[in-house]
Parts: sequence; structure tokens; C-alpha cells
Amino acid sequence: MNIISKLVTVLMTMIAMTIMLIGCGADRGDNIPAVKLTAAAIVSELANGHGHNVEIPFTDISASPSADLFQYRSSDNTGHSHVIALSKQQMVDLNNGMRLTVTSSLPSSGTAHTHTWNLVGGNVLYDKYCYNCHTNDKRGQDQNRMQASLRPLSDPNQINAIINPVSVPLSTSTPAIPDPAFTSSVQLQAIAAALIK
Ligand code: HEC
Repeated sequence: MNIISKLVTVLMTMIAMTIMLIGCGADRGDNIPAVKLTAAAIVSELANGHGHNVEIPFTDISASPSADLFQYRSSDNTGHSHVIALSKQQMVDLNNGMRLTVTSSLPSSGTAHTHTWNLVGGNVLYDKYCYNCHTNDKRGQDQNRMQASLRPLSDPNQINAIINPVSVPLSTSTPAIPDPAFTSSVQLQAIAAALIK
């Protein structure tokens, strides 16, 4: 092969790779949701016949979490809410696609009970990295097709977790203890706004 045809081959390969890479990287998708997500919403297991929702902001989910402890207050249901907590290591585990079982604080008022939250890292990663272009269409897709479109994500643990979320082991990191009096920054802003009025 002479130098010209070698160069042409290299150039063609580069163009082909660029086309493959931008498949998922460009600011487009095949089913963009009307409302884009900024957090993963997760519903608890039922206790006393009811459940609650917590939202974990995507910015909290990272390989090097920004805090030692992450706490989230759940939605209200039947007049009370709960708090769940994740340690820094638990957040790393979640970011690696692991599953986590966490137990909430006691309720803010009313009959004493707790809720279990089964956090599934692969689902949370899908919410963060895929949902805003695909809605739920590509959850649990065929592995080979998925792998091609997952090229923007290179971590094999994360890829594996997104493809098969429940196959990933349960995190065994020491659980964090939720503070039942925890007030979220959203709540603090609401309190501050009410005081200023
Ligand atoms: C910035 C937008 C965007 C993001 C983020 C994104 N995709 Fe895609 N994806 C696309 C576009 C555009 C296509 C091509 C549409 C088509 O195949 O018709 C595509 C195609 C696919 C396909 C089909 C490939 C095939 O061979 O049929 C799968 C599966 C897929 N994406 C999975 C994912 C997963 C899983 C994630 C998250 C890790 C993800 N995508 C993130 C935009 C995106």
C-alpha cells in the first residue's frame, strides 16, 4: 500500500469513528421528553399502606461526591415525611451502578414507622445519562446495540449496570444514619422567603 492510500484509509477510519461517536453525543435524541429530568425520583417500599418519593439530584451522583453525607427528605404522604441518608462511599457505589437498600428515619409526625428504599444504581444512571434523550425507550436494551450507543460512557461497571440494573450486587458499605430533623436547602429557602415577607 502506498502512502496516499494509507492516508486515505486512516482518514476514512477517523470519519467513520466520528460519525459513530456523535450518534449519542450530539444534542438530539430519538424521543426527547417534554420535561427534562435533573434528579432521579425513587419511590419507597410501602409501610402502613403508603409510600413516599425522594429525589436524588444528578449533580450529587458522581465518582468523587462533593460531600461526606447526602440527605434527602421524602415527599409528604398522610401528613408526614422521612429522611434518607447516603454516605460518600454509598454515593460512589450508586455511581458505580450498585444497588443500595437504605432505611429511612422515623416519620416527622404520627405513628412510628420507617420505609425501605431500594436504590438501583443502573436505573439512576439511566435517568442521568440516557433519559433526557430517549425517555424510557432504551432501558434494558440488547447488549450489543446498547454498547455501541453507550460509547460516551466508558466505565464498564456503569455500562453493565445500565444494561442489566438488577444483576449488579448490593452495596455492603456501612449505612449512613439519617437525621430526622434534616431540612433540605429547598425547605430552607422556603423558610427564608417566608421570614423576609
Ligand atoms: C444527547 C442525546 C443522547 C444521549 C444522552 C443518549 N443517546 Fe442513545 N441515541 C441518541 C440518538 C440521536 C440515537 C440514534 C437514534 C436512532 O437510532 O434512531 C441513539 C441511539 C441509541 C440506541 C439505538 C442504537 C441502535 O443500534 O439501534 C440505543 C440502544 C441507545 N441510544 C441507548 C442509549 C443509552 C443507554 C444512553 C445512556 C447511557 C444513551 N443512549 C444516551 C441520542 C442520545
